[in-house]
Amino acid sequence: MKKNKTFFDQIRLIELPKILDERGNLSFFEENSHIPFDIKRSYWIYDVPGGSIRGGHAFKKQKEFIVALSGSFDILLNDGKQDMKINLNRSYRGLYIPNMIWRQMDNFSTNSLALIVSNTFYDPSDYIYEKKLFLNLLDGE
Ligand code: TYD
Repeated sequence: MKKNKTFFDQIRLIELPKILDERGNLSFFEENSHIPFDIKRSYWIYDVPGGSIRGGHAFKKQKEFIVALSGSFDILLNDGKQDMKINLNRSYRGLYIPNMIWRQMDNFSTNSLALIVSNTFYDPSDYIYEKKLFLNLLDGE
């Protein structure tokens, strides 16, 4: 595992602009400004039953930026060597996850809403579902 470290080092929490207003607060992000990629796709996860686990895979090319627009949830990350757990619980703070990171989402609160934007269109062939294959691909980096 040579360049493996590079991917994990890129994971970061990004603080978004917060426009405080007595009429209600407003936050936003723009591609290649607040987040480090061109946005090709947005999706969101909602109505999550208690105890659900989402993800449990890595992406070969897909980078993501995840914001808890409402409620909270945990994101468990692994780069083949280390584990990291991050709780997202603010609508003005998101997590940037580069490609080639194993990730899982769980511990969703009631009425949580996860917004995910990515640098790729949906592509089932980009998913890595087997941990062993993930580790092998990292070794080949
Ligand atoms: P998946 O990415 O496997 O969800 P998670 O990683 O959160 O468990 O997606 C679940 C289903 O939704 C799967 O059938 C593919 C479909 N899907 C799309 O059609 N387009 C998308 O952009 C995404 C993210 C998923």
